[in-house]
Amino acid sequence: MAARATARQIEKLREEIRRHDELYYVENSPEISDREYDQLLEDLQKLEQQHPELITPDSPTQRVGGRPAEGFPEVVHTRQMLSLDNSYNIDELRAFDDRCRRLAEGRSLEYVAELKIDGLSLSLQYEDGVLARGVTRGDGRIGEDVTQNARTIRSVPLRLKAQKKSIDAPLEVRGEVFIPREVFERTNAEREELGEPRFANPRNAAAGAIRQLDSRLVARRRLDMFAYDLLVNGRKPFPTHWESLDWLESAGFRVNPHRKLCQTIDEVIHFADEKEALRDDLGYEIDGLVVKVNSTSLQDEFGATQKAPRWAIAYKYPARQASTRVLNIIVSVGRTGALTPVAMLEPVFLAGTTVARATLHNEDEIRRLGVKIGDWVLIEKSGEIIPKVLSVVTSKRTGEELDFEPPENCPVCGGLISRPEGEVVARCVAADCQAQLMGRLLHFASRRAMRIEGLGEALAEQLVAAKLVKDVGDLYSLTLDQVAALARMAKKSAANLLSQIEASKSRDLTNLIYALGIRHVGERTAGILAHELGSLERLASASVEELDAIPEIGLTVAESVRDWFDDEGNLALCDRLRAAGVKTETDRRSSTQVDERFAGKQFVLTGTLTSFTRDEARALIEARGGRVNSSVSKKTNYVVAGEAAGSKLDKAQSLGVTVLDEATFKTMLD
Ligand code: IVH
Repeated sequence: MAARATARQIEKLREEIRRHDELYYVENSPEISDREYDQLLEDLQKLEQQHPELITPDSPTQRVGGRPAEGFPEVVHTRQMLSLDNSYNIDELRAFDDRCRRLAEGRSLEYVAELKIDGLSLSLQYEDGVLARGVTRGDGRIGEDVTQNARTIRSVPLRLKAQKKSIDAPLEVRGEVFIPREVFERTNAEREELGEPRFANPRNAAAGAIRQLDSRLVARRRLDMFAYDLLVNGRKPFPTHWESLDWLESAGFRVNPHRKLCQTIDEVIHFADEKEALRDDLGYEIDGLVVKVNSTSLQDEFGATQKAPRWAIAYKYPARQASTRVLNIIVSVGRTGALTPVAMLEPVFLAGTTVARATLHNEDEIRRLGVKIGDWVLIEKSGEIIPKVLSVVTSKRTGEELDFEPPENCPVCGGLISRPEGEVVARCVAADCQAQLMGRLLHFASRRAMRIEGLGEALAEQLVAAKLVKDVGDLYSLTLDQVAALARMAKKSAANLLSQIEASKSRDLTNLIYALGIRHVGERTAGILAHELGSLERLASASVEELDAIPEIGLTVAESVRDWFDDEGNLALCDRLRAAGVKTETDRRSSTQVDERFAGKQFVLTGTLTSFTRDEARALIEARGGRVNSSVSKKTNYVVAGEAAGSKLDKAQSLGVTVLDEATFKTMLD
């Protein structure tokens, strides 16, 4: 290929990848699958390898990470990275407002209220619009140069997008780096499997990742960043902070959508309450709000103390920690037979709910904490994660506390327990353990698997106890009489359950593969396997080599899948599922699913929906034959506008496109 043509092709690929990065990481509405994305990146990598002279520092391939660095050089911040003063209640927030109003001497005052993301701050320097350096906060004056790691954060633009108000001078963007809750959970699960200690919280995981020397490992941690400040030559370039945030957004940064321009402190307080209710649904941790004076000239006038600016304050949400007593330590058995010790607690009220149990993860964790039955402990609840024990309050010991004795046999079925060398998790290995069966049933019926609504813990327990269900395949031969005969089961609910079970037969192959509960096969892996192999039969007969050759499928998964299908009982289960009419092939656009209101219609999602994530909303639309696009045009049929919808909503209104609020959209789905 002629050099010019290659250069053009490389640039085209880069542009395409940048566009998808933005759709994925900033707009949260991807247009292609991860696989297709990786393919683009791989194509680019190949071309660049053939023409290393064409590699530029802003190429998306540069995110993937280079060789381990030799420790991190220190960098002096151009302008000190200050901390914030904290306020813990409304009175303290009002006192801040009083102080600001006094300093403003009667001039009008606006505040910007933002979420306080629980991560670590990072400063990014751009020269000629290209990311030149990423520096941690360090002690506020001197930080560490983590440029190579900052590049792995997909929501950090390697090159700024051109825009109307262009800024030519070198500029600095500050923001908060964090790890999404889901990635945090996955990382900890992986670490546990590898026998490594768990991270205590997402902030530690993110801090550990950004200071990790090998940036290839950082890339795996899927860090993300919300930008919250812009400096040019150490100064704020716009008259207001609000304009800086808008500028950052249009330059390609991810700016948190939950922000509000407030005229009064009461508006700030209202915003704080509103967002506190959202806390569990955000997908990342926040620990409060940051309230900032909007006018940059007032900010300059107010100045700062040694530690923090006078024009901003953090408003911290109540701690999600509490202390209570451990009444007992029991051991629960999961669907894979994994034994998890659980602390039964004297109930305490914590962040909106009463907590009576906290996970202790495994025996090693009990040893690490040194927790005994009868101890006072500090517990923490974060997001929807099961509360956990942080530490033991040893000063409250009386000497009457009892050591926890790990069980010698499965506490449910009495079967043998195995804990292979090097693994932290002990498992019950009995094939007929009822606790495992319960776990498998609940997993099979769960929302992301076969979505059998109404099959919850109580019912699963009854079905197992009545011996009506000995494996998940038995669900499909249940009769109305059998179900209706269970205690507390009316005929109508029995019929509902059966129709739910019937409906589950037509779930996607991805759901089915995930529902089988094969070790190491999560939802995403199930999706890749379904897409690559197309049917359960093909999956069942694939060799380890064949599976391992699939991009993104590693040897551990390949072997685990092979092991599962080598088991005769599992194979027989697959046959029974098929015989019962469960769909075992991919068939993404089944004609029976077409819904007139959705089929062929173009949707755009904007703002934050409260009942589902964007991905879920997209899946619901696509399952009904609709399409989801990222931008609004005349061809758009509907814009679904959630909370804090921005420019897309404006555009829809100016083009006369129908706008659905979340409630209307939900009715349409029903
Ligand atoms: S503004 C001088 N905005 O909170 C103003 N900080 O406790 C400095 N943080 O070091 C920060 N979300 O790492 C600001 N929306 C936000 C923030 C935020 C999280 C962090 C930041 C800062 C710490 C202070």
